[in-house]
Amino acid sequence: MAIVPGTKGYSEQAEQLISRYESISFVVKHRAALHLIPRAPSEVLDIGAGTGADAAWFADAGYFVVAVEPTAELRNSGMALHSKSPIEWIDDSLPDLSRLPQGRKFDLVMITAVWMHLDERERAAAMPRVAMLLRPKGNLIMSLRHGPHALGRRTFDVSAEETVQLASASSLRCTLSAKTESAGELNRRAGITWSRLAFTF
Ligand SMILES: C[S@@+](CC[C@H](N)C(=O)[O-])C[C@H]1O[C@@H](n2cnc3c(N)ncnc32)[C@H](O)[C@@H]1O
Repeated sequence: MAIVPGTKGYSEQAEQLISRYESISFVVKHRAALHLIPRAPSEVLDIGAGTGADAAWFADAGYFVVAVEPTAELRNSGMALHSKSPIEWIDDSLPDLSRLPQGRKFDLVMITAVWMHLDERERAAAMPRVAMLLRPKGNLIMSLRHGPHALGRRTFDVSAEETVQLASASSLRCTLSAKTESAGELNRRAGITWSRLAFTF
């Protein structure tokens, strides 16, 4: 299978990243959007799930979780680290998510720290595909990274405004737009900030 362009650098850096991803508290990371998370049991899709730290939080809290992760090293580590958490792992990627059946729908879709790895064409193709995955009252929660680009990875400067416009073209209205600092110490010190966005129909 061809390498997914947005994953550039992740397999090489997986070893350092695994402990970083696992050390960040779900509640701290997602504080701005916690009120938009539906009650369990609901169906959650985490796209670009990394090591599945967030997916495990959902699974352990009684949600049905699908974790999509194209980087084998992160996905395999996540499967091993969270083997006791009932997570359905899928090797797939944006924009197409071709391994998720067309009719499959979720109450919540999380895209955390992933969207800025997609180029303009991929972002435009991904938004309608993501919208198709949401139930009528479902929520999409996203975060966009701003600041210095991570060395060795493919990242683009993506604004909240562009993302809100793309979502709107897929009939999704914005219910949250907040700027936050990084939950992780290293990123905070590097001056990386985040847009926290949420959408529903
Ligand atoms: C910064 S990590 C975030 C991981 C996780 N969401 C978290 O918050 O810990 C970005 C993730 O996006 C994944 N990724 C990159 N390009 C992707 C694509 N086109 N589709 C899905 N995931 C992608 C990478 O493999 C990596 O796991």
